[in-house]
Amino acid sequence: MSVTNGKELAKEIKENVKKKVYENYISKNRDVPCLVCIIVGDDKASKVYVNSKKKACEECGIKSLVYQLPADTTKEFLLDFLNKLNADKTVSGILVQLPLPEKLDKDRDEIINTILPSKDVDCLTHENLGRLFAGVGTIAPCTATGIIKILEHEKFDIDGKDAVVIGRSLLVGKSVSSLLQSKNATVTNCHSHTKNLKEKCQNADILIVAVGKPKMIKKDFVKDGAFVIDVGINRTENGLVGDVDFESVKDKCSYITPVPGGVGPLTVACLMENTLLLHEKAKENTKCVNLE
Ligand code: GUN
Repeated sequence: MSVTNGKELAKEIKENVKKKVYENYISKNRDVPCLVCIIVGDDKASKVYVNSKKKACEECGIKSLVYQLPADTTKEFLLDFLNKLNADKTVSGILVQLPLPEKLDKDRDEIINTILPSKDVDCLTHENLGRLFAGVGTIAPCTATGIIKILEHEKFDIDGKDAVVIGRSLLVGKSVSSLLQSKNATVTNCHSHTKNLKEKCQNADILIVAVGKPKMIKKDFVKDGAFVIDVGINRTENGLVGDVDFESVKDKCSYITPVPGGVGPLTVACLMENTLLLHEKAKENTKCVNLE
């Protein structure tokens, strides 16, 4: 069994982004990419995640701005704020950290879709998700991209494999299901209403778990030699644990991602890549044609 070191792989991805930012922007005195992260309210975990995004930006030479807005921020204020960032040519990517406070959550769709698709680094606008599901997207949600990078890094052949994805969020479950299908896996996307979950998991060559239930996946869910990817980050009395019971599963599978240090660091590294990609695209679109 091999434990994938997400931190190492994330480091390589960030090094690559840093090199490109230096060669194409810093050394040429051109504007560097700029990522804006917005947190509304006081969610502790969100603050930790956004801090790690800010730190990664610093490592890569990407400018980062973090706006911490109060929990009672109104929808109107937030939409107006997003429209200002949309109009600001120095901003390459905008991210509204989820979850939103309860009062704003009913307007989540409207809030996210106010972000211009060309600045939507999370790939969560309907336009960008539509492009992803049609197989013509430029970017994909960062966690979903990170999962595919883990499989590719381990040289695991996805083509023709049976994949089971537990969780149907746009950020992870639906997006990674789509990416796996585009790579010719046969995907079963399970969720809270799925019948016979254990039996379905037992058939999975690739098992991806993104539900937020500490250690719910035990040894008897896992096929011999499966690739197990744990997206869960659960804060318990015993510290951070994943959705997979690592100790019970580790000797049954061929690959497993740990928590912490597995998928998490890749989400952040892929966010750096998405920010650079959107910045490059924006620069391409504003190139002037010299008519002389
Ligand atoms: N909350 C947890 N993960 C994410 C993410 O990747 N993006 C955003 N916007 N919010 C999150």
